[in-house]
Amino acid sequence: MSWKRRNFLIFASLGTTAGIFASTSSCSNQSSAINQEVEDSSSNFASPVEETNSLTGKPSSDEWQDIRNDFNLDPNYIHLAGLLLTSHPAPVHQAIEEYQRELNSNPAFYVQDNNYQLQAQVRQAAANYLKTQPNEIALTDSTTMGTALIINGIKIRQDQEMLTSEFDYYSTHQSLRYKAERSGASYREISSYQNIQTVSEEEIVNTLIKSVRPETRLVTATWVHSSTGLKVPIRLIADQLEEINANRDQSDRILFLVDGVHGLGVEDASMADLNCDFFTAGTHKWLFAPRGTGIIWGNPRSLSEVSPTIPTFTQDGGWGGQMTPGGFKPFEHLWAMTEAFNFHQQIGKSRITERIHSLSQHLKEELAQMSHVTLYTPISDNLSAGIVCFDLDGFSPRQVVQQLRKNNIVASTTPYNPSHARLTPGIYNTHSEVETTLKIIHELA
Ligand SMILES: Cc1ncc(COP(=O)(O)O)c(C=O)c1O
Repeated sequence: MSWKRRNFLIFASLGTTAGIFASTSSCSNQSSAINQEVEDSSSNFASPVEETNSLTGKPSSDEWQDIRNDFNLDPNYIHLAGLLLTSHPAPVHQAIEEYQRELNSNPAFYVQDNNYQLQAQVRQAAANYLKTQPNEIALTDSTTMGTALIINGIKIRQDQEMLTSEFDYYSTHQSLRYKAERSGASYREISSYQNIQTVSEEEIVNTLIKSVRPETRLVTATWVHSSTGLKVPIRLIADQLEEINANRDQSDRILFLVDGVHGLGVEDASMADLNCDFFTAGTHKWLFAPRGTGIIWGNPRSLSEVSPTIPTFTQDGGWGGQMTPGGFKPFEHLWAMTEAFNFHQQIGKSRITERIHSLSQHLKEELAQMSHVTLYTPISDNLSAGIVCFDLDGFSPRQVVQQLRKNNIVASTTPYNPSHARLTPGIYNTHSEVETTLKIIHELA
């Protein structure tokens, strides 16, 4: 299926963009052109779901190639660093361009006439994807912004504490430091496991739960660690915290905040599956939404425990609206988030999970066989997602990345101490690209 065919199918099946652009008179010609193409596409082409492998019911390799073609990624490179920043797939790219055209044509009218409705659509698309309610979702610029807004806004007393792990990201740690300075509450860091090569779900949960004290008010966790690729069993931790909370007053309840950026767009989980209190993520990495976008989800049971920091410009939307920072923004990026959520839904969340896990399993299993490689990411699907971290004898992580770059492979190093080399396959990668990468690493022995 060609780039255009899939793209029109996305519009056809979801019917959002055509409707959006019909809302101002200046774009009625364009809108009818899109509608015409939508009609053509729906009458002439089979849906991608029908183009599955008839034996497995999974997308055929052709479809994965079509999905790859939706990205304008330089074909001269194997792109294995998508966890840093996304390339926009075609529907997102197109929506940004269309909105930009409208904004440049008449910014005041276009924003006045469309902003509330388009932001409501983003919140609805996110809610559909997360299987939750739109008023539980705030729209942010990044994981960093969402995490800072929750930590800053949390109701905490001087005699209470915030508990984090040494493996959480810098943005979480720094937000906790700021909050501790401002509130007088304390901040404590633990090691959630002894050794990444022997870590288990049980060890992570037990270590954390044993560290909880009567004064613990906030617990933070990172769903998938960008330092090692370890996936944290969020639900198991949430269940244990819920038991502790059963005996606590509302103002003493432990609130569980998850930085979910490297799980969102990878793992097939709803917010009910995770059952944390607050979830923050940039949508500009694995989810492929426009750069400079992100979300916060708040569990209804805990919304009253956090208040806004930045005044909103959103009139409604409940808690999610109130928590959405105001100010005029690159609205074309914010509004085009809808297409990213829909892009994932159209491919299928479980298919995306399977694909990313199968590519990263392939990488890990082969790397684990190489005597000059130390693999840090657990092999088990329960303890890993799409991030693969390793060291290579005789090379620093930076040198590994440089060697791979010489061979047109894009990798990254982890920004932690100790640092490792890191590969992060996405749905735009193929098993043959993984093979090529493994061959180069093998030859670096
Ligand atoms: C675990 C984790 N959280 C947050 C971030 C920062 O994300 P954002 O750019 O959305 O703030 C990163 C960086 O990639 C990260 O690895």
